[in-house]
Amino acid sequence: MVASLTEWPKSVNLKSSEVNKMKGEILRALRDSGDYVSGESLSKELGTSRVSIWKHIHRLEQDGYTVEASPKGYRLLSSPDLLIPCEFPGLEQRIHHFREIGSTMDAARKLAEGGVEQGTIIVAESQSHGRGRLSKEWLSPEGGIYFTVVLRPKISPVYAPRMNLMASVAVATTIRRLFGLKAELKWPNDVLIEGRKVCGILAEMHAEVDAVHFINLGIGVNANTHVSQQEKKATSLKEQLGREVCRKEFFRSVLMELKERQALLTEADLVEEWKSLSATLNRDVRIVAPGEEIIGQAVDIDSGGALIIKDKDGSLRTAIAGDCIHLT
Ligand code: BTN
Repeated sequence: MVASLTEWPKSVNLKSSEVNKMKGEILRALRDSGDYVSGESLSKELGTSRVSIWKHIHRLEQDGYTVEASPKGYRLLSSPDLLIPCEFPGLEQRIHHFREIGSTMDAARKLAEGGVEQGTIIVAESQSHGRGRLSKEWLSPEGGIYFTVVLRPKISPVYAPRMNLMASVAVATTIRRLFGLKAELKWPNDVLIEGRKVCGILAEMHAEVDAVHFINLGIGVNANTHVSQQEKKATSLKEQLGREVCRKEFFRSVLMELKERQALLTEADLVEEWKSLSATLNRDVRIVAPGEEIIGQAVDIDSGGALIIKDKDGSLRTAIAGDCIHLT
């Protein structure tokens, strides 16, 4: 089922976030025990009735969890790898999860315009109209990770492109830390493994000349997706590792890395971190931007995230946006 934007009020009301919190607490209690836990002790521990515990367990089963119910109590047998709010303690009220959606960017824009708080996250298991940069389509089958974070940074709009740096650094760092794969960055904001794209980032801003209202940061990761032979420029984590990855763990880690870096948004450290992970610097590149093409060697990025290119005459040119093709 595709969730249309008109369904938002139903899916993000306070009641559903309370339900998510209780589901999360039950999951934690069952996982901590690793054995049977009686309805009575769950109801005491969580301060709710046994009927309410039973109802929440039923909801977990509807989400795809397998819970054995016996005279000894409840025991968790298996969990689906879904990015549902109850799996992210402390974020249950901020994460809005969809099995399928048009695009998390559209939903995020609507919510941001409606005034949702900084850090609200829209995540979907699949998208029917996933959007990429430069009006391209972003294929979003199940198995990938697709989410948009609503950010309200107190920065001048000139720093906005650094959001892309922050997101790509957060994703590459997660890939390196969790899987030991050499994730690298292609300007402006692609994450590559062995030269093939594993993650794309799309930032959309609503701002005045001197103030940012919100920046929606959309991140799409080819996690457990199949990459066809035709897509020579793309890869997935599953293809690289020869096994499926835990999407929950990956998502949790990227959110943590993003949070850590938000404070660095106006600091030089962020640019240095991006440079240390860059696959673009010191290469010959072609930058294709609307009405302009620049060919030369990528020599640096500036404090705003623009790419500095030395052309064949030795002149330095600056690319603020565009498609970057690695020539060497
Ligand atoms: C790119 O072209 O490289 C950017 C791709 C961005 C895809 C993500 S998936 C989550 C969010 N929702 C979208 O429709 N697009 C972004």
